[in-house]
Amino acid sequence: MDVKPGEIYGIIGRSGAGKSTLIRCVNGLEQPSTGSVLIEGTCITTMDAATLREARRHMGMIFQHFNLLQSRNVIDNIALPLEMAKAPKHEIQSRVNQLLELTELENHGKQYPSQLSGGQKQRVAIARALACSPKIMLCDEATSSLDPRSTLSILELLRNINHELGITMLLITHEMDVVKSICHHVAVIDAGEIVEQNGVIEIFTNPQAQETKELLKASSRMEVPRVIKDLLQANASRDSGTILRIAYHGASASQPIISYLIQQYHIIVNMLQGSIETIQDQIVGVMIVEIKGDRENVDKSIAFLERNGLHVEILGYVQRDP
Ligand SMILES: Nc1ncnc2c1ncn2[C@@H]1O[C@H](COP(=O)(O)OP(=O)(O)O)[C@@H](O)[C@H]1O
Ligand SMILES: [Mg+2]
Repeated sequence: MDVKPGEIYGIIGRSGAGKSTLIRCVNGLEQPSTGSVLIEGTCITTMDAATLREARRHMGMIFQHFNLLQSRNVIDNIALPLEMAKAPKHEIQSRVNQLLELTELENHGKQYPSQLSGGQKQRVAIARALACSPKIMLCDEATSSLDPRSTLSILELLRNINHELGITMLLITHEMDVVKSICHHVAVIDAGEIVEQNGVIEIFTNPQAQETKELLKASSRMEVPRVIKDLLQANASRDSGTILRIAYHGASASQPIISYLIQQYHIIVNMLQGSIETIQDQIVGVMIVEIKGDRENVDKSIAFLERNGLHVEILGYVQRDP
């Protein structure tokens, strides 16, 4: 895996896939049995303990369960890493104030973790992670125990931090929606192996690995409807319909293309599922359709779609009454 400076790199996989283990290899808490981790060209895996501690100071970490000290108020939680780095008192104070403002916690400085909502707790954890001005931030399921609204606000905060401070982020999640909203690139991990990595738009429009397709289904609920799924066959037979997943982004608008198909190739297009959304300023459309017509025209239609920059995947064939 290669993460470019300043980007938000997502790592997605189901529970137990090895995401946390991977991130623990990056901060040196875990030693990989083979391979190495380089940060700005320096190898983490062969560092001695003192150098590693110093290197870790330049990495901020946030977790699913916030890991705040219950006995310290917000200000003292944020100050902790600065105290450990033996920063002078006045410096700590001004840095903490800066961070309270950045995370919109100005009015909560004296409160204790037990008095805060989940979203506020994660803001404290983010402020603490930023205390020593890290270049890298590692986020392990940072939004997984938050409600949808807090999730959005935390993701927005992370996006702003990345954008304004240029901090590189490695962001672990099991949800495609998180990847969709803030990641630039993403790696899909399954059973301890990276099975696919690509830009976010490519992952959504043209997924390759089976695991990626499963994760996409779980998030968008874009699946072949049950009644059709039960009839799905791997091979075409005479007058069977062809079930396609069609995806496109940006300039290739779908509507005129589909209308053209119907006219030009005398096929029937039956829309089964569809969604159009904006992912990071790009329009991304995905649909599942059934097309029927004579075999040659169906093949020509698929070739036509691909020529026009749409991604087409044949999901199977169905034989059913019109
Ligand atoms: N590359 C790997 N090779 C062997 N075992 C692994 C690997 N990655 C993870 N594991 C093991 O799989 C289990 C789950 O890993 P974990 O990183 O906690 O998954 P996740 O965070 O994705 O839920 C752990 O017991 C871990 O030791
Ligand atoms: Mg984990």
